[in-house]
Amino acid sequence: MSDWLNQVFCEDALAGLARIPDGAVDLILTDPPYNLGKDYGNASDQQTVEEYLRWTEQWIDAALPKLKPNGSLYIFLTWRFSPEIFVMLKQRMTMMNEIIWDRRVPSMGGSVRSYSSVHDTVGFFVGRKDYYFDLDAVRIPYDAETKKARSRSIFIGAKWLEVGYNPKDVWSVSRLHREHPERADHPTQKPLEIIERMVKASCPPGGVVLDLFMGSGTTALAARRCGRQFVGFELNPQYCAIINQRLAALETLEALALAAAPDAPAKPKSEARPKAKAAATAKAAAPAKNAAIKKAATKKAAIKKAAIKKAATKKAAAAPTAAAPKRSRAVKKAPPEEVTI
Ligand SMILES: C[S@@+](CC[C@H](N)C(=O)[O-])C[C@H]1O[C@@H](n2cnc3c(N)ncnc32)[C@H](O)[C@@H]1O
Repeated sequence: MSDWLNQVFCEDALAGLARIPDGAVDLILTDPPYNLGKDYGNASDQQTVEEYLRWTEQWIDAALPKLKPNGSLYIFLTWRFSPEIFVMLKQRMTMMNEIIWDRRVPSMGGSVRSYSSVHDTVGFFVGRKDYYFDLDAVRIPYDAETKKARSRSIFIGAKWLEVGYNPKDVWSVSRLHREHPERADHPTQKPLEIIERMVKASCPPGGVVLDLFMGSGTTALAARRCGRQFVGFELNPQYCAIINQRLAALETLEALALAAAPDAPAKPKSEARPKAKAAATAKAAAPAKNAAIKKAATKKAAIKKAAIKKAATKKAAAAPTAAAPKRSRAVKKAPPEEVTI
């Protein structure tokens, strides 16, 4: 029974993790309290340094067994505690990247005794060498002008020119200011653009994403929008209500899109809206729903991969002397051309 799937439980993550079987999660993507004194309606961001680090180690040790052996973990932090927490994680996993999220905060005064901090520090960790990583799903397309500029023969047939470039490890995406259409009533809501990139790259279609600290539910929404499944926790009931609203709004949008495309295959009835729930609310239809989501996501991913492959093959065929495009895959080193972009 996977009655824990596609739910956000309104409860303490440490207690709630017991619901999830070991080895059931493809990706832990989490944004814990940074201990900067913020008010989330609880004391989680206002602990002493010792308490905070002890608590962090506790939830890390409770969460990691839930990961599949080839699973991955992303953790949002700031410079204040990322050194200590990265060391904790490096003792348990392999660190692949430190991603800098440049929040693009405009200059508005700020500190006069140090440099204003405008970035979050995100750690990307993996369990073992054959971790899932789909670079093609998150490549950034080149614009027509750049493609034209790269028309020398050495570039002809280069797959990366057709399908876009590696997003690299500095992600410049504006934070969600008050007027932003995506903004919910949560002080540290993350942009979907960032979370979706992580989900697409590091969780297979139909796979499961775990977020221990859901906040406004961005991870749940991103997983759903990308055809992945989710599970998570949030302590504050007001934020749980926001999560429900955001998931309901997404469901409405999906229904409208379906109505606008009447020829599209009907969504299985079992794909009912997932809800943030208090404690044990098992649904009998959960296994059928989860299987349907997984099937649809796998099909979508296969279509996308085929399209990318077709584009690369077409370009290569136009330039028979160029080297055959390489497949980019987990664990393999980045193709040399990517280093130069
Ligand atoms: C940094 S915020 C997450 C924001 C989220 N990524 C978003 O985009 O909205 C951290 C959240 O963790 C919640 N939290 C703190 N301690 C918790 C616990 N023990 N269990 C579950 N949630 C907790 C807080 O209430 C807060 O909403």
